[in-house]
Amino acid sequence: MDVVERGETVVEFVNVQKSFGQNRVLRNLNLSIRQGEILTIMGGSGSGKSVTLKLLVGLIKPDRGQIFLRGVDITPLSEEELLPFRQRMGVVFQGGALFDSMTVGENVAYPLREHLQLSEKEIRERVAEKLSLVGLPGIEEQYPADLSGGMKKRVAIARAIVMEPEILLYDEPTAGLDPINAKLISRLIDSLQQKFFPTSVVVSHDLHYAFPISDRVAMLYQGEIIAVGSPEEMRRSERHEVREFLAGDLQPPGEGGCNDRE
Ligand SMILES: Nc1ncnc2c1ncn2[C@@H]1O[C@H](COP(=O)(O)OP(=O)(O)O)[C@@H](O)[C@H]1O
Ligand SMILES: [Mg+2]
Repeated sequence: MDVVERGETVVEFVNVQKSFGQNRVLRNLNLSIRQGEILTIMGGSGSGKSVTLKLLVGLIKPDRGQIFLRGVDITPLSEEELLPFRQRMGVVFQGGALFDSMTVGENVAYPLREHLQLSEKEIRERVAEKLSLVGLPGIEEQYPADLSGGMKKRVAIARAIVMEPEILLYDEPTAGLDPINAKLISRLIDSLQQKFFPTSVVVSHDLHYAFPISDRVAMLYQGEIIAVGSPEEMRRSERHEVREFLAGDLQPPGEGGCNDRE
């Protein structure tokens, strides 16, 4: 792999359009994601945040436009051609999406068994290391049903980083968590980024937690990115859509914030 400098463009959406029937979700999405940053994509419910992540992972295809990963347009690639690109991305899906019938250890080991030829000992070591990194050492034998919401989320993060991806994608990582766990998860996202320097994309409307850890924030509104900048720049934005969104969402929960939506 080439040496990549901080700030270099890793992902680029160019004029991306995506409709479902008559529902034009993404009209014209343009967005660059830079090496090593935490970029938060904010936007209301149903604005297309999850669709944007799914396009990047290649789970769905755009109707028009291109998505470049380190300069390679991934939109025309077949499932098989996409595999090496997917392996470079770790995804924490909205619900956590752990396999309930598997132990925590088996859940975290899953991507390793799918993609790599490692010995059982190597798998055990990697799983133990990743569970320690998310603050849950030694819980390999437990089942997801035994865990709290915050712990499940951390296991999902352990699974997303087990392949040591260059890009980490988090879909609503703090949704549904109490304030203490939400803060823990946002700190974890921040510390993983500082330790391993993955490019991290956080999709969220929980701005109270996302803002402090973000290098940049992009606002998705009516199918386009209408503003992008540092959290400070976004706070100073003159666009009324941005101002209105931030007015409702930057307060801590219980003080008029909207963090319990969805
Ligand atoms: N597979 C799908 N089929 C049809 N409509 C979809 C599909 N996925 C998403 N949508 C629609 O696209 C819009 C954006 O969805 P989504 O990206 O999930 O929003 P959010 O910003 O809340 O994550 C919604 O109107 C949703 O109903
Ligand atoms: Mg969503």
